[in-house]
Amino acid sequence: MSDSRWSNYYQMTRQRTRPRKALLIALDQFKNESGFLPSQAIDLGCGSGSDSLYLLRSGWRVTAMDSSTDSMLALISSLPLSLSEKLLIKLCKFEGLSFLPQVHFVNASFSLPFLDKSEFYLFWPKIINSISSGGRFAGSFFGSRDDWHKRDNMTFLSYADILNLFSKLEIEYFEEEEPNEAGALDKPKHWHKYHIVAKKA
Ligand SMILES: C[S@@+](CC[C@H](N)C(=O)[O-])C[C@H]1O[C@@H](n2cnc3c(N)ncnc32)[C@H](O)[C@@H]1O
Repeated sequence: MSDSRWSNYYQMTRQRTRPRKALLIALDQFKNESGFLPSQAIDLGCGSGSDSLYLLRSGWRVTAMDSSTDSMLALISSLPLSLSEKLLIKLCKFEGLSFLPQVHFVNASFSLPFLDKSEFYLFWPKIINSISSGGRFAGSFFGSRDDWHKRDNMTFLSYADILNLFSKLEIEYFEEEEPNEAGALDKPKHWHKYHIVAKKA
């Protein structure tokens, strides 16, 4: 997507204070574990930052990554000073990262589908490797019946693809939905989405 289209997306989504559902479910899973203390998380493709801010408010230290300067500006403009020392922002393209730091939680809400398929499959093992033992992944992907599925600069996955992706993790939450509705910037379309929380043994 073009930079100006992402900027419009941040304008539309920065009002949204509620984090994504998969993130909330993952945090509940952590909270249900005895002795759990929030530690280090990565928010991949943080956009205007509602997930990153929620993580910070929940006591996590967060590395928020995105390729868009406007995304970082939107996040910083909503960041309370009291939380700023727990946030590291990294302006980068996923494709340029040779590895990700070890963390207990990786969140990726609707960002990984914007990699083309070859880049997606090069990046995915780096995500798996970055999650420490007992840590979790939460995120959303687009499915192969999505109206955009012919875009060759994005990645659309079948149910079998999802099972393969998560073969080394335990899927704790899986939701597949196919609404016909407008997106933040788009006219009504057929969406095919997967929302997933998974734990590394
Ligand atoms: C649909 S938005 C999602 C934003 C936010 N996570 C949310 O749930 O609202 C996708 C975000 O991923 C970022 N993104 C897309 N492709 C990227 C890439 N190759 N490297 C880094 N960030 C990327 C975009 O800049 C954008 O902010």
